[in-house]
Amino acid sequence: MIILLVLGLMFVAGLVGWIVGHNTHEKTTGTVSASTATFDPQVAAGAHIFVQFACAQCHGEQGKGGVSPDVPALKTVAQKLQPAELRTIIDHGLGASKDPTKPYMPVWGQVISATQVTDLISYLRAGLPKVPTADPPAIPQGQGAAVAGATLYVRYGCINCHGPNGLGGVPNPQSPDKTIPPLSGADFQGEFNTDKKIIDVIRSGSVIGRAPIVSMPHWGGIIPNDQLAALAAYIKTLKSG
Ligand code: HEC
Ligand code: HEC
Repeated sequence: MIILLVLGLMFVAGLVGWIVGHNTHEKTTGTVSASTATFDPQVAAGAHIFVQFACAQCHGEQGKGGVSPDVPALKTVAQKLQPAELRTIIDHGLGASKDPTKPYMPVWGQVISATQVTDLISYLRAGLPKVPTADPPAIPQGQGAAVAGATLYVRYGCINCHGPNGLGGVPNPQSPDKTIPPLSGADFQGEFNTDKKIIDVIRSGSVIGRAPIVSMPHWGGIIPNDQLAALAAYIKTLKSG
């Protein structure tokens, strides 16, 4: 009887082992074929730009939606809109109001080049496929808020508008300052001298004019509170002089 039981268990263990092994094998082959598959270079570039400019953080990975009820999924947008309409929306934004209480589509025309917008449109028209390594950077865990914040600064694309290390320098010719403000230096640190002030402006955004003027996007409902705190912790470590 015991022998039968042991034999039975061995059989079950073997079967489980075989299933696990078999699945792993399938997964491995899947990954291998995906990473060696070739993509149209414009579609691949578009997938990377979609991550770099944080389209994925608002519209979901591969544009699947689900981040906020105020941000639409993009899976079928290219069936609904012509390439020229998509370009206008990306360059000029959509839905911004004078007093935004909801996320709107930011104005990208000053920041993303015409070639990059063409690549984004190719990616949207291809149905936003999964492209290997077009992934947002992983957030370091357990290493302090400022470390996490430095990665979030890249993940949410803040770096594209405010420059590496918050040094600024990105032109915004028709805005009062003619440039997107730095997040470092005496003026910034004098005005934004508490975590609350920094977090409030990230949450609310600031509509300073109509396209082609670039405004500060509204991130409320998109960036969770702990990540807002981490961003503030990082921004406070930047150059003060
Ligand atoms: C801060 C969040 C945010 C980011 C970042 C963002 N979007 Fe949007 N986007 C929105 C919102 C909100 C709307 C809906 C605006 C409306 O209809 O009022 C939208 C609308 C759109 C639309 C029109 C969708 C439709 O169904 O009409 C397209 C296309 C689009 N976004 C593409 C992009 C691309 C490409 C990027 C990256 C370059 C991007 N978005 C980045 C928030 C965002
Ligand atoms: C599409 C470009 C763009 C992106 C992306 C962007 N910002 Fe901004 N941001 C601006 C502009 C433009 C202003 C100036 C608004 C004004 O003058 O009222 C601004 C203002 C700010 C301010 C207040 C600084 C000041 O002097 O007024 C802070 C803080 C800030 N942004 C943080 C962030 C963070 C953190 C992120 C990423 C989560 C981010 N921004 C993403 C364009 C951008």
